Amino acid sequence: MARKIKRQLPSYFIAGVSLACTTMLTCSTASLAQVHALQVDASRSNGAVQPTMWGIFFEDINLGADGGIYAEVVKNRSFEFIKPLMGWDLNGKKLKEGSFLLINEAKERPNNPRFLQVSLSDAAAGDLGLVNEGFRGMGIKKDLAYDFSIQYRRLTNPISLLLQLKNSSGKIIGSGQLTLNATGDDWQQASTSFRATDTAASGQLQIWLVGNGQVDLDQVSFFPGDTWKGRKGGLRADMVQALADLKPGFIRFPGGCIVEGHELSTRYQWKKTVGPVANRPLSINRWNNEFAERAAPDYFQTFGLGFFEYFQLAEDIGAEPLPILSCGMACQFNSAELVPLDELEPYIQDAIDLIEFANGDTQTKWGALRASMGHPAPFNLKMMGIGNENWGPQYLERVKVFAARLKAQHPEVKLITSAGPFSSGEMFDTLDKGLRALQVDFIDEHYYMSPDWFLRHANRYDHYDRQGPKIFAGEYAAHPPKQPQGPLRNNWQAALSEAAFMTGLERNAAVVEMCSYAPLFAHIDGWQWSPDLIWVDNLNSYPTPNYYVQQLYSLNKGTKTISIEEGGKALSGQDSLYASAVLDEKQSMLIIKLVNADGVDKKTVLNLKGLRIKAKEAERIDMKSTDPLAVNAVGAAPKLIPQKASVAIKTSNWAMVLPANSFTVLRIPYQK
Ligand code: AHR
Repeated sequence: MARKIKRQLPSYFIAGVSLACTTMLTCSTASLAQVHALQVDASRSNGAVQPTMWGIFFEDINLGADGGIYAEVVKNRSFEFIKPLMGWDLNGKKLKEGSFLLINEAKERPNNPRFLQVSLSDAAAGDLGLVNEGFRGMGIKKDLAYDFSIQYRRLTNPISLLLQLKNSSGKIIGSGQLTLNATGDDWQQASTSFRATDTAASGQLQIWLVGNGQVDLDQVSFFPGDTWKGRKGGLRADMVQALADLKPGFIRFPGGCIVEGHELSTRYQWKKTVGPVANRPLSINRWNNEFAERAAPDYFQTFGLGFFEYFQLAEDIGAEPLPILSCGMACQFNSAELVPLDELEPYIQDAIDLIEFANGDTQTKWGALRASMGHPAPFNLKMMGIGNENWGPQYLERVKVFAARLKAQHPEVKLITSAGPFSSGEMFDTLDKGLRALQVDFIDEHYYMSPDWFLRHANRYDHYDRQGPKIFAGEYAAHPPKQPQGPLRNNWQAALSEAAFMTGLERNAAVVEMCSYAPLFAHIDGWQWSPDLIWVDNLNSYPTPNYYVQQLYSLNKGTKTISIEEGGKALSGQDSLYASAVLDEKQSMLIIKLVNADGVDKKTVLNLKGLRIKAKEAERIDMKSTDPLAVNAVGAAPKLIPQKASVAIKTSNWAMVLPANSFTVLRIPYQK
């Protein structure tokens, strides 16, 4: 039975923060005259910090996967988009009706039904060709080798392909050649590589067909030679490196709403994303038409980045894999299509089979597929999410059924369940109560709110039940006020409010075991949702101030939280100051995080208790800007980055000025 709920606007769409006062985020009357005495007591711990604490959220939104981290630069390479020639232009002096026929063999090849049949007669270069425009153009790098490949069949005479890379002015910036030899009814693959002679941010690929005869063409592919780890058909190295540099504790994939689908038929189905790439059936991307004002009619999922590649990515960057699966409920902001309880079996089986795919012996069906794809060793899957942003009694009923089955068969796999799309309110409360009653392992909370909300809620988890389910802050981001045009900005106001809020996450690491900012990536010419952690164009990645805030937490996560207080109270906004402290027991390092969210400098004195500190110097890392609206511009080297310095340590009355609107990390070595 289908159910519909009217989409409510989350508060970030309507909330704004007044900047009328002179301070950045709050309007404090305090001044430098006041000195804040902060007591760090290493003998008082609030509990362990899990290695998973700071992770990443990956979704194919904003051209995150196709057109983004998946390095394929040909758009619609197998002619399966709803408009089969989208992304392609047919050209040439001898182009005529019938030169190209688009054929659909849905019966014979249900996963990849369409291909292009070309007839050529005495064609020379310039007579008959195809141009691919790439995803918002193709990013081409000077001197880099590019790998072209194509599938073809039913060719009676050999023909050749002349490949030309062009920049946006039409200048040829690289060319290659490929001969296709006569072949029978079976599909063959041919490939070649050639170097680009210049850089283009928005290039295109021209393919001239030269010779006589007829041929079927499919899977026209073009990859840069500098993919991550040099894997053929792999991922964009700069984007993966940006993730690796975060040293994330986990990677959640494949979303987000993309898990659910507008309808059940377009939900993410992991089994359709594994095995040979050409056999992975295309699906529309739900962000194709989610927002009318940001429509992306050319946004589809090829699944070249599928579940095997997600697991491999997790392994590469040292992150625990966290797949999220459909629970049999399509997006409740859209169709809200619902699988009846007694028809849930295939969905549960998908979850069970996924555990086998990730962890199973190579003799098992799904373990054997993993091995055949090049990874006989298990991926060590330890957790899995059931549904994304689903809600209502229907969700609780489905979680109950899933959990009973999965726990009976795989008690070792922790289950993540959703508290819905909102941070509070009736819907949130009902889910929170219901999920606690079901004694789930994790509750996944989402909040996209104003910077002001983040500042006011740094104590959100101070009173959460330590005995109940653990919390996964699975999607959060501070959303500054809307711009007259363009995306919501990743400005310093937003990033600093997240840094402040994160002191509260860290202080409560005993109950909050995983956190991830969302969304992760956005293409400057292809975004639907903003702000985002990392902006990219066709050539490079540009980390935001928010990225560096995440990184400062992740690289300084420690192993246990300890107390830092002023006047016997945790600092969570008094006089706009925020603080948390951890010990890294492996590195013997005390790490203190301090946020001054006020527009004036603050004087503090630190007193360190409960540790033997003999080192003379600590590392001090600051991020600050007097401009709340400061951003790291796309296309330029980032300006708002952490600044490192050495400072002399004092264990008592260590005077320190926290600059206006700043985030500071202190790394203080101690003796075991
Ligand atoms: O992160 C963008 C979207 O926000 C996610 O897909 C969804 O889970 C949430 O509503």
